[in-house]
Amino acid sequence: MEKSEEVQSPEKRILCVGLVCLDIINVVDQFPLEDTDTRCVSQRWQRGGNASNSCSVLSLLGAKPAFMGSISPGPVSDFILEDFRKFHIDVSLVTEHAQCVVPASIVIGNRRNGSRTILHMNRNLPDVSLEDFSKVDLRRFHWIHFEGRNAAEQARMIQQVELWNKSVSEEKKKITVSVEIEKVREELYQLFNMADVVFVSKDVAQSLGFESARAAVTGLYPRVRPGSALICAWAELGADANKDGVLFHSPAFPPEKLLDTLGAGDTFNASVIFKLSQDPDQTQTRPGAAQNPDQDTLGAGDTFNA
Ligand code: FRU
Repeated sequence: MEKSEEVQSPEKRILCVGLVCLDIINVVDQFPLEDTDTRCVSQRWQRGGNASNSCSVLSLLGAKPAFMGSISPGPVSDFILEDFRKFHIDVSLVTEHAQCVVPASIVIGNRRNGSRTILHMNRNLPDVSLEDFSKVDLRRFHWIHFEGRNAAEQARMIQQVELWNKSVSEEKKKITVSVEIEKVREELYQLFNMADVVFVSKDVAQSLGFESARAAVTGLYPRVRPGSALICAWAELGADANKDGVLFHSPAFPPEKLLDTLGAGDTFNASVIFKLSQDPDQTQTRPGAAQNPDQDTLGAGDTFNA
């Protein structure tokens, strides 16, 4: 901690840009059969969405996260905003859209095997726009994480961060950019070469023909910028990373009993971002910046299976 405080001003935050939604979580002992009437073990509302979940984990780890996303005023967004506050997450960059519906997920959590089945709906709430992002005071942040969504527009947001980084002379004052490419959507793949740290999901890796995390981070590396870190988590098989041909592997550390895998990937991403943002040697992944391939910080993310 002391080391990082020397390097980063303590007020600087980690910004996560992406989705917040309502998760209605139904916990069952057995996955229901179609066209049956099942009693749940429990049912609750929870704030969800990848970027929003990652903010929660960052906050629990002791970072200062800020969330940037869209909501629509009403009782659901009151619940969501109150929960952000409970987690000490800065919501000053949340944009309200009247006449829209807050996205929601019906989640079936199976206690028997920890699986989570998600039915998600976003009726009409727009993603963060380039115009919204242009208003961000970039001086406030040392790391910006983008959950890949409206990728073409997000690419232009990242270009703004790159311009900002060019204008800053001191390496340690530059903003590190990470992106998550989770959904199997061709549009998102333009983000591979736009970040210092790229998280690619098992789903995307498999859809592109890779059968392991190691194969994915090796085979997909030509898509990222030289010097960037490409990271792929593969559930109980752990996670792999590649940085300029230096490969890292971390096993998973599964809990004795798997209770709930909802937000597992978001937890993994947040843990890795937290660790890398604490360690200046690892943070400097921009081309030409100092690198230390001997250190493996990948294990930081192994809460993802808990
Ligand atoms: C978990 C999650 C949930 C949300 C869904 C959206 O990763 O963010 O909280 O309902 O994914 O796809």
